Amino acid sequence: MSALSGPDSSGPALDGPSFSGRVIVVGVTGGIAAYKAVEVCRRLVDAGAHVVPVMTQDAEHFIGRTTLSALCSEPVQTSLWDEDSPIPHTQLGQSADLILVVPATARLLGAYAGGLSTDLLTNTLLATRAPVIVCPAMHTEMWEHPAVQDNVVLLRRRGVVVVDPDVGRLAGGDSGAGRLASPERIVAAVARTLGPRDLADLIVVVTAGGTREPIDAVRVIANRSSGKQGYALAAEAAARGAVVTLISTVELATPPFVALVKVETAAQMQTAVESLAAVADVVIMAAAVADFRPKAVAVNKLKKHDGPPDIILEPTPDILAGLGMVKPTGQILVGFAAETDDLVDNAEAKLRRKNLDLIVANDVGAAGVGFQHDTNAVCLLRPDAPMVTIGLTDKRSIARAVLDSVVDIRRGSRS
Ligand code: PMT
Repeated sequence: MSALSGPDSSGPALDGPSFSGRVIVVGVTGGIAAYKAVEVCRRLVDAGAHVVPVMTQDAEHFIGRTTLSALCSEPVQTSLWDEDSPIPHTQLGQSADLILVVPATARLLGAYAGGLSTDLLTNTLLATRAPVIVCPAMHTEMWEHPAVQDNVVLLRRRGVVVVDPDVGRLAGGDSGAGRLASPERIVAAVARTLGPRDLADLIVVVTAGGTREPIDAVRVIANRSSGKQGYALAAEAAARGAVVTLISTVELATPPFVALVKVETAAQMQTAVESLAAVADVVIMAAAVADFRPKAVAVNKLKKHDGPPDIILEPTPDILAGLGMVKPTGQILVGFAAETDDLVDNAEAKLRRKNLDLIVANDVGAAGVGFQHDTNAVCLLRPDAPMVTIGLTDKRSIARAVLDSVVDIRRGSRS
């Protein structure tokens, strides 16, 4: 196998989606959640987007122009009339790759659904062909009002992405549906809308974290996997349109648009994986599954005064090898190889022995690579393609490269 260079990783090290070179118009309307738009804008700018802020007059009751101007890529625009450009709304609408309204009040939803152009933001929304995301936030009674719900249904039918509000504490101190979605969920919706939709509607199963094999009532045999690499894969697959289930042993925040199945042991992971893999288009085993577990588990805590126990180990089932034996036609099976020596030879042997389409080999003895780090460096090996090497970069970029390879394999198998 010959080594080729991997995707360009010379850009900023991002642990999230990249919006480099994309123009995002962020419309801020007059609701108490307007201050949260500041955090969303900051995240978009950090991810490389050129963010153009537009505020309604009402929004200015809630946040200052200066704050938003300082954090975005351009000064805030508010008016159809008093800006330098004579037709700011068409210029904004045409230059945008995406328009994001955060928060979207009931009034904005009504005006947009009804095609009313009352101010710069509503004019811009009507003057664009770019995708639009609205993030409603309002009091529960307003959110649940049939007029608002009808407008939401209508907007969705027209292709507008509506990021449903969360249930939680509201401005009045009470709780209910209507709280603005978290910045993570909003940015993930942007990534899903702007990103390549090359995994759209594919069923993807990802495993993450290290299994924990019980010794007695309180002790386990574990390993150092943090789950970060698996979570980055799940987030990236979801951003590219996949229907993702993440089978995890760890407590990290579940990425938006990802379903979580929590497990602890290799046996539980096997049951979860096997029940989902049968209908999956892609299965990615990034978890560090224990190779051995105690043969007998003590029901009670082993007593220190009884001395060191003789723990007899037995092999766990190799989940990935099992999947390789019953792989449905067209399914892409991806494994990882955590090695400390003979990286490529060992990984290649696993690739063939487990009947994989792709193996992601990491030298977990190298600095910044593998377990627990925010970074990783990998070689991607396939049975019938040159090896690709990805130098040290953040785990989201590794995930991107792995999924690029999955897309390439799918393309090849269909042509
Ligand atoms: O979680 P992080 O801290 O982010 O670290 C990431 C990682 C180092 C855990 C990840 O990049 C990685 O290498 N995961 C695989 C770890 C591993 O178990 O490698 P392995 O070479 O022992 O296993 C090979 C493959 O078989 C893996 O896909 C593994 O999930 C699978 N396996 C292993 C044993 C077993 N009983 N069943 C399996 O399915």
